[in-house]
Amino acid sequence: MKITIVGTGYQGLVVGTCLAENGHQVVCVDRDVARIDLLRQGLPPIHEPGLEELVVRNIEEERLHFTAELGPAVEDCLLVMLCVGTPADAEGEAGVRAVYDAAREVAAAMTGYRIIVNKSTCPIGTAEKLKAILGEGTRHAFDVVVNPDFLKEGAAINDFMAPDRIVIGCDDVRVREIMKELYSPFLRTGRPFLNMSARSAEMTKYATNAMLAVRISLMNQLADLCEAYGADIGEVREGIASDERIGPTFLFPGLGYGGLGLPKDLAVCIRLAEEKGLDHDLLDAIRDVNDRRQDQFLARILAHYGDTINTKRIALWGASFKPRTDDLRGAPGLRIADGLREAGARLRVYDPVAGPKLRERYGDTIDIVPKYYAALEDADGLVIATEWNEFRRPDYERMGQLMREKTIFDGRNLYTPGVMREHGFKYVSIGRPEV
Ligand SMILES: NC(=O)c1ccc[n+]([C@@H]2O[C@H](COP(=O)([O-])OP(=O)(O)OC[C@H]3O[C@@H](n4cnc5c(N)ncnc54)[C@H](O)[C@@H]3O)[C@@H](O)[C@H]2O)c1
Repeated sequence: MKITIVGTGYQGLVVGTCLAENGHQVVCVDRDVARIDLLRQGLPPIHEPGLEELVVRNIEEERLHFTAELGPAVEDCLLVMLCVGTPADAEGEAGVRAVYDAAREVAAAMTGYRIIVNKSTCPIGTAEKLKAILGEGTRHAFDVVVNPDFLKEGAAINDFMAPDRIVIGCDDVRVREIMKELYSPFLRTGRPFLNMSARSAEMTKYATNAMLAVRISLMNQLADLCEAYGADIGEVREGIASDERIGPTFLFPGLGYGGLGLPKDLAVCIRLAEEKGLDHDLLDAIRDVNDRRQDQFLARILAHYGDTINTKRIALWGASFKPRTDDLRGAPGLRIADGLREAGARLRVYDPVAGPKLRERYGDTIDIVPKYYAALEDADGLVIATEWNEFRRPDYERMGQLMREKTIFDGRNLYTPGVMREHGFKYVSIGRPEV
């Protein structure tokens, strides 16, 4: 199948590359010319495990192409997949403007029948507006399909290649069969292909993220209870995760959820409820608990150093919003980093892959080091903000020798409090006894 992807960011690049890997002819379009130049050389501008190898192979096999010109890319394809960004703006709008703009450009470039597949996360009713926009912009026939993505950055290739389910919002039987054919190689393990109304498909994405967000916020409040009453949230988590009604995923307490998706999609849910005059107190609470999370952790760090914070050098391990990605959007570690800088601390940061993006954001105002032990030299404390695997079993002796003050604020509960005490650290974690 000939497929054009409009928007080649975290989502579009993964989608386009994985479809090319399955034998389709894919053209990825992005208006960011520098991004396209890099991609043509086989250099993904984002970090996603396994992506670069797939990009290079599919360029070489001439199945994957990159262009900044949308017109020619839409001239000769059956499917056009919209993967443009939908940032939540200050008012909580879904920021679907980029999707509508892309649809207008697509309509103007169409030379015959096309299936427009909206993969960007958009509020309920967007598919209908897309139909209207396309209808105004072209005399050619088209169908609109809603096909939300459930990719997790850091595991996006695997999520695309072996999805839990495929959700398709479409009411035309022939189009549904084309979509089924497209995704059938990815569903061989028997995972469901779920065809539903466009509105339900749009809502499924928001409902999924709201459900995930509530688990995280609830675990974070339960962690606070554990800490206040001398229980250990790690033990409690095991106790509830083995309940089949609950299950083990998304139950790790920490610094709250970040990234692009969860905060944005929850904000959109709240706005949608407001627009219809519906109650949204639970959704508000999920968001508020999360919003306070990083500030509460920051307050603990600041309370420890008191007035001396502006004389301190603090090491930060991990900056990306989760491991195995360089995405800093909504990253909890950045809010803590900003708070420490504002209080006058000098920061020395190590992240396995986000260094260049940190440099773009902070310039020389923080030290960014290429090795994780280097961040600890003469440090008055270490803050752990992302649970990269390499932080899990460090050499505690070496850490202690490098640090001026052996204090760790672990926002990801990587270590065992008793072990840290044995090694002479003051160790603050989440929902567990402080040692
Ligand atoms: N990032 C993820 O893992 C993920 C997962 C599931 C869903 N989503 C959804 O996917 C959508 C895209 O997210 P993202 O993280 O890839 O965003 P992104 O900002 O990384 O990428 C969007 C890209 O679209 C390009 N673009 C915008 N308008 C364009 C146009 N008219 N023509 C060509 N290119 C255009 C931008 O230059 C940018 O490179 C969002 O709706 C998001 O909610 C993302």
